[in-house]
Amino acid sequence: MRSKLLHTTLLLLVGVALCLNNGIDKRPPMGWNSWNLYGCDISEKLIVETINAMDSTLKKFGYQYVNIDDCWSLKSGRHPDTQELIPDPQRFPRGIKFLSDYAHSKGLKLGIYSDVGYNTCAGYPGSGDKYYEIDAKTFAKWGIDYLKLDYCNTDKAMEAEPWKYYERMSLALNSTGRPIFYSICNWGVKNPWEWAPKISNSWRTTGDIEPKWASVISILDINKPLYKYSGPYTFNDPDMLEVDVDRPPNKLTNTEAKTHFTLWVMLNSPLLLGNDIRRLEDEDHKWAKDILTNEEVISISQDPLVQQARLVYEEKKGVIEDNTCKSESCSWFEVWAKQLSGSQRLAVAVVNRGGIDPNDKKFNKDRVNISLEKLGLDASTEYKIRDLWTRTSLGNAKGQFSTDVIEAHDVRLFKISK
Ligand SMILES: *[C@@H]1O[C@H](CO)[C@@H](O)[C@H](O)[C@H]1NC(C)=O
Ligand SMILES: *[C@@H]1O[C@H](CO)[C@@H](O)[C@H](O)[C@H]1NC(C)=O
Repeated sequence: MRSKLLHTTLLLLVGVALCLNNGIDKRPPMGWNSWNLYGCDISEKLIVETINAMDSTLKKFGYQYVNIDDCWSLKSGRHPDTQELIPDPQRFPRGIKFLSDYAHSKGLKLGIYSDVGYNTCAGYPGSGDKYYEIDAKTFAKWGIDYLKLDYCNTDKAMEAEPWKYYERMSLALNSTGRPIFYSICNWGVKNPWEWAPKISNSWRTTGDIEPKWASVISILDINKPLYKYSGPYTFNDPDMLEVDVDRPPNKLTNTEAKTHFTLWVMLNSPLLLGNDIRRLEDEDHKWAKDILTNEEVISISQDPLVQQARLVYEEKKGVIEDNTCKSESCSWFEVWAKQLSGSQRLAVAVVNRGGIDPNDKKFNKDRVNISLEKLGLDASTEYKIRDLWTRTSLGNAKGQFSTDVIEAHDVRLFKISK
């Protein structure tokens, strides 16, 4: 008997035939980006050290892209003759090609950033109206493997029909002949999920993430209905990771960071770290390394079926408005399922959303009963249940199983298989 989820999957597989074919892996990319922690404070030294850290610590877990965000080019303008962008000689004295050669020598990849408008968000030259072809050629010549194209400093025409301008860069990248992951970053304006899958590998669905629970939750909610647009080669992008990113006054707790990572894995999101990975081997960052290098969790992100999770059901108690408990006490659990390759295999995340404030004591911790039938599985079949964060088998279950007590903002991630 075929479950409801399996029916949905078949529909999805038909949809993705229309997606971009530019030689990129069908699974969500894994890597790092400079923006969330460093902003404009970037340099050749930082990128070289990050490549080294990725090589020694993270490459074996599947991370491969080292992506430079805004502020890498000469702010004063393009080359007067060639009109090419120029790497800032102070920050990047040996240029960008030097860095991609270095990344490639370690079996890694290098990414860069530009803007569909006239200037980047930090005011550097953008690819503007007439530079898409020149910039694509320059990036290919430098050996770039990933391009994030932002949406600042646009004009009225670009704002009216952003797809036209993003498509020009897509065509320009294609004509270089180099496979370059193309990441559209227009913050969800004009529903990019409806037009971006044909021209790009990923599209941001929201404004910028911040390292706080309210931001994680609001982005999660916006991505909730978008699962059908994500699949092999093309991904909704709920923005880069904030695990172990300390930007006072904001920082996710260790528990929230684990939940954030779990949810982005479930959302079929690109997994681009934002933290200082040079320090991951330090004792005081071990907790973050444990989150980012759990192979069982990563295997859910990299599953060959490449599906985005759906919210299957919620368990809610009390009166909750705007993520705030308006009664004596409340609880709010979400049960998400991501279809995996193979017959009747699911990843299931159980999230205790709690309130926005981690100290909101009105939200309860609790156990949750997970109904296999609600997940679209057979009520009469025995399934194996594995807890991927604790890396333990919980035995077999038929009909339902119960979690242990889940604290507010915490998560459980199970693999369910026959
Ligand atoms: C360019 O587009 C063609 C047609 O879709 C495709 O077959 C080819 O793989 C693309 N090449 C690159 C480098 O994107
Ligand atoms: C969960 O299941 C157990 C065992 O079947 C049952 O005793 C308990 O009442 C259930 N809890 C909820 C909240 O449904």
